[in-house]
Amino acid sequence: MYDLLLSIHNIARWLVLGAAVYVIYRSVSGFRSRSYAPADRQAGRLYTGLMDLQLLLGILLLVISPLVQSALGNPAAAMQNSQTRFFIAEHWVLMLAAVILAHVGSSRIKKATEAWLKQRQALIWYGPSVALVLLAIPWWRPLLRLG
Ligand code: HEM
Repeated sequence: MYDLLLSIHNIARWLVLGAAVYVIYRSVSGFRSRSYAPADRQAGRLYTGLMDLQLLLGILLLVISPLVQSALGNPAAAMQNSQTRFFIAEHWVLMLAAVILAHVGSSRIKKATEAWLKQRQALIWYGPSVALVLLAIPWWRPLLRLG
């Protein structure tokens, strides 16, 4: 079960990054042309939805991961090691912040009344969310984990 969830979490990272590129591209071009199309709303929904999926998988991983569980058995020692510290104290905090930014963005976009204001909200909230994701991905781990 652990291996399966880790693989899905690993592969879903590429879907998140693809959706991130798409949502930023749409916000920049929409902001320039002062338009907001249904595809812009769908791009935001896709990014936020995939982030929610990663949040769910990540919470399950926190509970069943041997790495996290053994680190929590001795938190003081785990905090001395950069890799275990990353998973018990950094990865989930930054990713949770990225999920929250994406949701706040979606709600602000909904409330904005004009197209360019919606695109501005998308850039203001999705932009930092994507930056946090890029920062908090453990790039030293396998880029693709298939089973
Ligand atoms: C939002 C809350 C999240 C939590 C609680 C979380 C939790 C975790 C945990 C516990 C692990 C390590 C499991 C282990 O090695 O035993 C992990 C690994 C990883 N996470 Fe997350 N994660 C979250 C979000 C994300 C997001 C948004 C992404 C990318 C878009 C991401 C990408 C990764 C990657 C690439 C790995 C390494 C997978 C591997 O080694 O194959 N995580 N995450």
